[in-house]
Amino acid sequence: MKKILDLISAQVMAAFEACGYDASYGKTGISNRPDLCEYQCNGAMAAKKAYQKAPIVIAQEVAEKLQGNGIFAEVNAVNPGFINIRVSGGFLADYLREMQSDGNLSVEKTREPETILLDYGGPNVAKPLHVGHLRSAIIGESVKRIARFMGHKVIGDVHLGDWGLQMGLIITEVRHRQPELPYFDEQFTGEYPKEAPFTISELEEIYPTASAKSKEDAAYRDEALEATAKLQDGVRGYRALWQHILDVSVTDLRKNYQNLNVEFDLWKGESDARTYIPEMVARMKQGGFAYEDQGALIVDVKEERDTKEVPPCIILKSDGAALYTTTDLATIVDRMQTYKPDHIIYIVDKRQEMHFTQVFRCARKTGLVQEDTKLTFLGFGTMNGKDGKPFKTREGGVMRLETLIADINAEMYKKIVENHEVDPQEAKETAKLVGLSAIKYGDLSNQASKDYVFDIDKFTSFEGNTGPYLLYTIVRIKSILNKYRENGGILQKGHILAPANESEKGMMMELVKFNSMIEQAFEEIAPHKVCSFVYELANAFNRFYHETRILGEEDAARQTSWIELLDLTREVLETSIDLLGFAAPERM
Ligand code: ARG
Repeated sequence: MKKILDLISAQVMAAFEACGYDASYGKTGISNRPDLCEYQCNGAMAAKKAYQKAPIVIAQEVAEKLQGNGIFAEVNAVNPGFINIRVSGGFLADYLREMQSDGNLSVEKTREPETILLDYGGPNVAKPLHVGHLRSAIIGESVKRIARFMGHKVIGDVHLGDWGLQMGLIITEVRHRQPELPYFDEQFTGEYPKEAPFTISELEEIYPTASAKSKEDAAYRDEALEATAKLQDGVRGYRALWQHILDVSVTDLRKNYQNLNVEFDLWKGESDARTYIPEMVARMKQGGFAYEDQGALIVDVKEERDTKEVPPCIILKSDGAALYTTTDLATIVDRMQTYKPDHIIYIVDKRQEMHFTQVFRCARKTGLVQEDTKLTFLGFGTMNGKDGKPFKTREGGVMRLETLIADINAEMYKKIVENHEVDPQEAKETAKLVGLSAIKYGDLSNQASKDYVFDIDKFTSFEGNTGPYLLYTIVRIKSILNKYRENGGILQKGHILAPANESEKGMMMELVKFNSMIEQAFEEIAPHKVCSFVYELANAFNRFYHETRILGEEDAARQTSWIELLDLTREVLETSIDLLGFAAPERM
């Protein structure tokens, strides 16, 4: 469907033209003075120079031309040359009826679908998922859903951290604890055990222990470096042990992401890039891009316009080991060959910006990606605690994601059973849904690049700009619709009338913004725009609801219209929160 602003602009542009001015001056936008008007055109001021005429005169002529036009309720020329517009209720009702029957709720799918590869999640195997990885998962999932809704082909890749020093550290620690395991016996030629020699909780303890030891003990660190190199070289026992680490971790990660309602299409990792490394390195050398510097292989990526130093990309360390940069570059090779994306978007902590600047530049310079593939780094800010420092447990440790989710759900459960009597099992399920909305909305309602404070009290509140408030609003609408059905009403489409009052019109004015908002959220990769939209729409509905007796209305046509309007609002709200990655319960 055409966007409402385009329909309005078309009329105003035609009027400019009919008055002898260039049509382009008629472009109209949303008013920034909602107390004065709904839409506003400032073209008369812009036309002043070209036509040597007072803007107010131009505005008056155009406003005059628009009198009697059915889509407007009011068009006024105001000093020094604004054209202030209010649309007619009939026009809004027409638009909403069309929206009711539109398969995509008025959003036009793109005519040029792109293949977008989304790199998000980015957990490191053998480390518990902690809140640092929460943002990537939440934002990425939403970006994926928004892009798909627009008709693009999106491939989400979790890009596990499974190939660097952390793997060497774990292997080393396991070796210290259980040196008798066959993985460390180079003479061993038999089959390795099917069972992993550790559980997930053991793994989660092994990694930090190893990491701490390596910081204090140089010999231990050297061992870990050697283990990393052996793993990357393909030493059989190390690969087998690594596979166990991977399997145990991935099982746990899948469960965690499932609880977050986050789903990946690909479960690839840094290690999957390994087979692409030798050829990539050879090409970089042949092309004269990569050269040796103090034993390491590097590619210069600084540019003249740089205001701060961009260090060269290290492709291989002096011991031949692959680094984070190496795997990211080789992953690009894999992605280009396997999926041919038009766009690769990385949703990663903004503190990694320099890394991605280097990787992107190197990839372009060495021809791994061509001009027609976009590379985007969407860096997100830190999730802080109330003290303004990175979010921690009360004891000051790293907060596990599972703990955070459990805390939130417990808080929601308490509130739900406090509110009214419910079956404990149902309350538990509801608490999960509401808890997820609290976490996700709390995160997504902030612009991704900004740091934000994770405030449990605020996020779990049923009032204010929160996930639970939205769900509460949706549930309220559902309950009205259910009562209507219980009273014998049948939900239909196509009977929305012009609004009966200002609060109803206000709600309609929010609904008609849906398509342009989604387009913007996609283009700017900005889920927070969906959040502001749902919040405004929920507020507009609640205002209407408090002023209107819907189920008691005696005029049947009026009541049908309201019910349909509510159902459309529900559909738009539910679609929007689905794009944010959470859902509403039936009751709460
Ligand atoms: N595993 C990395 C980390 O925890 C994030 C990976 C982001 N994606 C990428 N292609 N580098 O920091």
